[in-house]
Order: sequence, then structure tokens, then C-alpha cells
Amino acid sequence: METLLVIQSSGRHTRSITRRLTGRFIEQWRAAHPQGVVVERDVTDNPPPVVNESWIAGAYCAPEERTGAMREALAVSDEVVSEVQRADTIVIGAPIYNFGLPAQLKAWVDQLVRVGATFRIDPTQQPAYQPLLVAKPVKVIVSAGDAALHPGGELWAMNHLEPYLQTVLGFVGLTDVEFLRVGNAEFRDDAMRASIEAVENRITKICQPGDALAV
Ligand SMILES: Cc1cc2nc3c(=O)[nH]c(=O)nc-3n(C[C@H](O)[C@H](O)[C@H](O)COP(=O)(O)O)c2cc1C
Repeated sequence: METLLVIQSSGRHTRSITRRLTGRFIEQWRAAHPQGVVVERDVTDNPPPVVNESWIAGAYCAPEERTGAMREALAVSDEVVSEVQRADTIVIGAPIYNFGLPAQLKAWVDQLVRVGATFRIDPTQQPAYQPLLVAKPVKVIVSAGDAALHPGGELWAMNHLEPYLQTVLGFVGLTDVEFLRVGNAEFRDDAMRASIEAVENRITKICQPGDALAV
């Protein structure tokens, strides 16, 4: 069964642009996949825990050697990894906070990137880090207060969200990433509306039945 995984990370529920657009994606994807399953993980309402001593020790030892505390520390990571593995398509709502990711989205990334689960280390290989996830479409809906942070804009060098997500998702094998960007251009409402409409049109195209997802 087709599965869409949606990661929500905006701090707000009312007036959130990323939630509005992920909502739009879900609606159109459901229409195109009536039998499909939508799994939502809201990392703001349920923030993943931060990585701690037990988590790290557990990740770096054999599953049969893990203590109860290690298994407990890895439980959310198990869920996060399994959701990503089972998904056919992933949508991430990603507001830019202070030039990067909201902390709750970074916490989700830290639960996803795990040795032996989503990447492995093999010193005989070049590179030694090998991804363990199968590539699938990942659509990242990025909203910035200032559109100059997007590629081509004069603040692009300060955008640490997009290059970071591209790198870290690629590191675990999720290399098929598309960024759908909205933002104010010099704080003009009409430019904001135009960027939202452009993303809405792209979502409509992505969610068309058939193999449009690959486009
Ligand atoms: C805590 C916080 C930090 C922000 N930092 C930035 C920033 O560094 N650059 C920027 O252009 N916009 C920044 N913004 C504006 C958000 O990126 C923008 O409002 C975006 O639409 C938020 O996503 P949402 O509408 O889904 O909540 C920030 C907003 C908040 C709440």
C-alpha cells in the first residue's frame, strides 16, 4: 500500500504556511491515492528526545547486547527509522528558524541518522560511510520570512537549512530531495502570495496520478 509520511515542524498551528502547504499536499495525495496511508509525525507537538549517553552506547553496540536503558533510549529512533523505511514519499514542512532548522526538526534528524540502521561504516569501502536507506521522493516545503534566503537570493549564504538537509538526507540514502520554497520578497504580501501559489501548483503536479512524482 502506498504510504505518505509527513513531518510537521512549525512551532505554530494557526497561520503556519508550511502546515497549510503540507495540508494541501496530503489532500491532493489522498485524492490521487484513495487506498493510500498517510502517516503524520508532528515533531513540535511530540518533540523527539535528544541523543544521550544510552542512545549513543546502544547505537554502537550489537542489538543483543543492549541494556533496557539503551533499548528505551533508542525506541523513538526505531519508530522514526521504520516510518521512513515504510514510506513511499516523504513530505517535510520546514520553516527557517534563525537561519537553520527548528530544533525539533533537528531532533528528528538525530533520531533518523543512526549507525547500523540508516548508515553503516565500512573502512574497506570508499567512502567508508555507506547509506542504508533506499532513495524515495522527499519534498521539503521550506518557508522563510525573507525570500532572499532562498537560492539566488542575496542572503542565500546564510541559509543553513537547505544545504544541511540535502547533505544529511543524502548521507542516509535519501538523495531524491526537492525543495518547494515560499517566502516574503522584501516583506511584500503579493510576493508571498505568489510564492505560495507557485508551491500549490507544484504540489498539484506532484500529486497527479501516474509517475509525476519522479518529475
Ligand atoms: C523562532 C523563529 C525564527 C525565525 N528565523 C527566521 C530567519 O532566520 N530567517 C527568516 O527569513 N525567517 C525567520 N523566521 C520566519 C519564518 O521562517 C516564517 O515565518 C515561516 O513562514 C515560519 O513557518 P510557518 O509559517 O510554517 O510557521 C523565523 C520565525 C520564528 C518563529
